Amino acid sequence: MNYNDFGKTGLSVSTLGFGAAPIGLLKTEQERVASILNLLLDLGVNLIDTAAAYAGSEEALGKAIGPRRDEYILVSKCGQKFDDLPGEAWSPEVITATIDRALRRLQTDHLDVMLLHSCGMEVLQKGEALKALVQAREAGKIRFAGYSGDNENVAYAATLPDVEVIETSINFVDQANIESLLPLTLKNGIGVIAKRPVANAAWKPLDDQPGLYKDYARTYHERFLAMGIRLEDLGLDEETTDWAQVALRFTLSQPGVHTAIIGTTNPDNARSNVDIANQGPLPEETLQKMRDAFLNAEGKSGETWKAQT
Ligand SMILES: NC(=O)c1ccc[n+]([C@@H]2O[C@H](COP(=O)([O-])OP(=O)(O)OC[C@H]3O[C@@H](n4cnc5c(N)ncnc54)[C@H](OP(=O)(O)O)[C@@H]3O)[C@@H](O)[C@H]2O)c1
Repeated sequence: MNYNDFGKTGLSVSTLGFGAAPIGLLKTEQERVASILNLLLDLGVNLIDTAAAYAGSEEALGKAIGPRRDEYILVSKCGQKFDDLPGEAWSPEVITATIDRALRRLQTDHLDVMLLHSCGMEVLQKGEALKALVQAREAGKIRFAGYSGDNENVAYAATLPDVEVIETSINFVDQANIESLLPLTLKNGIGVIAKRPVANAAWKPLDDQPGLYKDYARTYHERFLAMGIRLEDLGLDEETTDWAQVALRFTLSQPGVHTAIIGTTNPDNARSNVDIANQGPLPEETLQKMRDAFLNAEGKSGETWKAQT
């Protein structure tokens, strides 16, 4: 497994990380969760991303890999209102209570990173939500604070001195944050986690997407069709290459991306994603063709293809 320095945090992160949204939202059975997570840790993956909002995922991770806690960098997200917790959305009260609950659910005494989960500009500018993360950092409950989100909001977050880590959508059908965000994170030494790094398997027909992902993957699937690229157009051998490879390598080729957190419920895909991450960046010529295909299709659509949260 390859590793990157994670901005100025002093941490070293595996280029492939794990995103726990699907195991929570699709209610993957615990035995399967445990086999995927233990396999990934055995293969050197060391960053695990979850969120209070991915129902059941924090508990599932705690059960599956809580006993191996010193082997991974643990990232979670907070800010939404929950019926069983005090405080309104984005209040210091709900943020503190969500962190305390995450520690119990994840069977740990600290989180490495806690992110505000896609709040709007107003909340970022008001500052009290981020201040609640800083207080948790001072109390030793979290090591680093940050923001998960996209477009103008994430570009603003990247200018805030207390934001040490950012999670944002970057993939071959979602390229807006590459230019608007990554130069800033590189300049400010921020650790960057690419979310949705294989574009929710945008190449698959929507009918083949599981459950709520039929809707969630729609924009990406439509962009993929509009871009109209084929593997052979990219100078890649169709016999030995598939879209998962091209997608993950595109994301990891972007300067400033430190880790790509793929969500998977399939142990075979988990294993093959490790192999793909180890293949390193795509050739410059292929990257340029993918960039051109995005810009051409965006131009023809007559719309701005904003990053998708
Ligand atoms: N607002 C936010 O903060 C936010 C928003 C979105 C996502 N996230 C985070 O980012 C993580 C990743 O995003 P995501 O899960 O939405 O999308 P993703 O990782 O881009 O795509 C996941 C999809 O790709 C498929 N897949 C994975 N590896 C594959 C392979 N080798 N071959 C073929 N298909 C493959 C998975 O299917 P299988 O299950 O069949 O492998 C799943 O359907 C999330 O889990 C979450 O942690 C955060």
